[in-house]
Amino acid sequence: MCGIFGYAGNEDAATRILNGLKRLEYRGYDSWGIAVSKNENIEIFKRVGAIGDINSKDLKLPKSGIGIVHTRWATHGGVTEINAHPHFSTDKSFVLAQNGIVENYQGLKSELIQKGYKFISQTDTEVIVRLIEDKLTNSENLIEAVRSAFLELKGRNTIILLENKNDHIIAVRNGSPLVVGLGKNETIIASDTLSFADRTNKVVLLENNQMIEYLNDQIKLFDVLTNNELEMIVSNLDHEDINVDREGFDHFMIKEIVEQKYTIETAAQYTEDELRDFLNAIRNSKKIYTVGAGTAGFAAQQIAYYLRKYAGIVAAELRSYETESYRNLFSKDDLIIAVSQSGETADTIEALEFAKEKGTKIASIVNMLGSTITRMSDYPFFSRSGPEICVASTKAFTAQIAWGLLVSLSLIGKHDEAKKILKDLAEKLDGYFNEYTFETIKNLAKKLKDQEHFFVLGKGQNYAVSLEGALKVKEITYKHFEGFPAGELKHGVIVLIDSGTPVFGIISEDENKSDILSAMAEVKSRGAMTIGIAKENNDLFDIFIPTIDGRLADALANVIPFQLLSYFLALELGNSPDKPRNLAKSVTVK
Ligand code: BG6
Repeated sequence: MCGIFGYAGNEDAATRILNGLKRLEYRGYDSWGIAVSKNENIEIFKRVGAIGDINSKDLKLPKSGIGIVHTRWATHGGVTEINAHPHFSTDKSFVLAQNGIVENYQGLKSELIQKGYKFISQTDTEVIVRLIEDKLTNSENLIEAVRSAFLELKGRNTIILLENKNDHIIAVRNGSPLVVGLGKNETIIASDTLSFADRTNKVVLLENNQMIEYLNDQIKLFDVLTNNELEMIVSNLDHEDINVDREGFDHFMIKEIVEQKYTIETAAQYTEDELRDFLNAIRNSKKIYTVGAGTAGFAAQQIAYYLRKYAGIVAAELRSYETESYRNLFSKDDLIIAVSQSGETADTIEALEFAKEKGTKIASIVNMLGSTITRMSDYPFFSRSGPEICVASTKAFTAQIAWGLLVSLSLIGKHDEAKKILKDLAEKLDGYFNEYTFETIKNLAKKLKDQEHFFVLGKGQNYAVSLEGALKVKEITYKHFEGFPAGELKHGVIVLIDSGTPVFGIISEDENKSDILSAMAEVKSRGAMTIGIAKENNDLFDIFIPTIDGRLADALANVIPFQLLSYFLALELGNSPDKPRNLAKSVTVK
């Protein structure tokens, strides 16, 4: 949810840390804070709001080779400078930042207050700081105090601490991700590998309940439960210097939307050989589950649809945050497919933990390298869409379902046909991303900008797309966009249709076309403004938005107009397309 980054090396820590932070900002951006240590003195700079173009000189921090930083997505305590991390110990001998939620912080806080400790912020994080101070009163050293304090925390928490002496950083992981980058004369401890992909691909991926200590140029890894020192396994992530710039586009969102003319095909590059074991695992499994959250949840729904529809596989889609009732149903004869851009979504990880308990085999389609979900998987796959920086997921969504279509058609011996369908779609998309399409959607955005309530109808292959399309526009425009299966219309939703209410209908040239057109007729007869997302115009449409024919992959084509509408409508409304309010790219807390 938040982003943490620690640096120790020969360069100016403030400069290095600020660059790392800008690569982490998509993880949460309501406030941030940086601390460096020099001559046994820690200095801090905190700010509410996005990082923007600030540079290290503006921070007026001393030149130092060691420091930590944090970008926040508030969970406890308002968005203020006082609540921004890192937080000082009472004697200013160390500072600490956290990514996670201390579920038992209220109990711990009242005990500490009884012991006379003072709190200046409303955060659960400051409780960890005071708890370490309390442990220090009867611990021989800081790392022991950190370890015993950490063991009292309930929930998924990752912390990083900078001491004012001995070039000393301690970080502990339980839940939220933590990785170490081993660069030339520098060590980086961060929330994800993207933040230092421009510096090194030598990484140590921490597991839960592992603690890393950087002390005077030495780095050690410990098991926080036993305090035993562990061997550090260094992996080489095959990520070349991943550039995270907009390459001339005004925003990451429009760049990532247009990149789909490549990324859809890239996701489907797996050969039959590479898929064989996984396809057999699907064939030999009793029940297949797909699971994800947010946009990835809708992709999981689409993949289950393809498995049922094209491969005749008994597949059920689950929402990560509602899997607890399946905990006793999962079995060793089942297989669960996790869908996630980041590979770090806490709810999806918990769903996999439930499945793993019962010996269910795990497969995954993830975009980020070195993630927790990939490491939990028996069959790990990558969508290889490149970094997705815009908080609202676009190219990762179409890549995930392109992979799902490839798998589903490969199960019935149509691997090459699947690749052909996706290749054709990618080529057509290249022609679709033109001024005419952009102007058409910009005009629609202008027409709709003063409306507040919108509905999106979808059926069959377009049901999940109606949900994802609505979410996409909702995420960026903050308007009430609701997607639902067209069949639900007459069972209630139609009461919300009034004169001029915008209703989108997603129409493919398939067996559901007439049903959707009937639904459009029903809402039109109640005064709705009907917007047809379709291959051809129709008298039932007040507004026609043409899409390309993706054949069996038509769902991928049909989500694009919603991605573009959310972008152009956000611009009309003056919203940030890349960093919508209250959201973060990877939800690492439950
Ligand atoms: C949300 C993101 O926080 O998490 C969404 O804003 C995303 O875009 C969802 O779909 C799930 O994340 P992930 O990384 O598991 O795909």
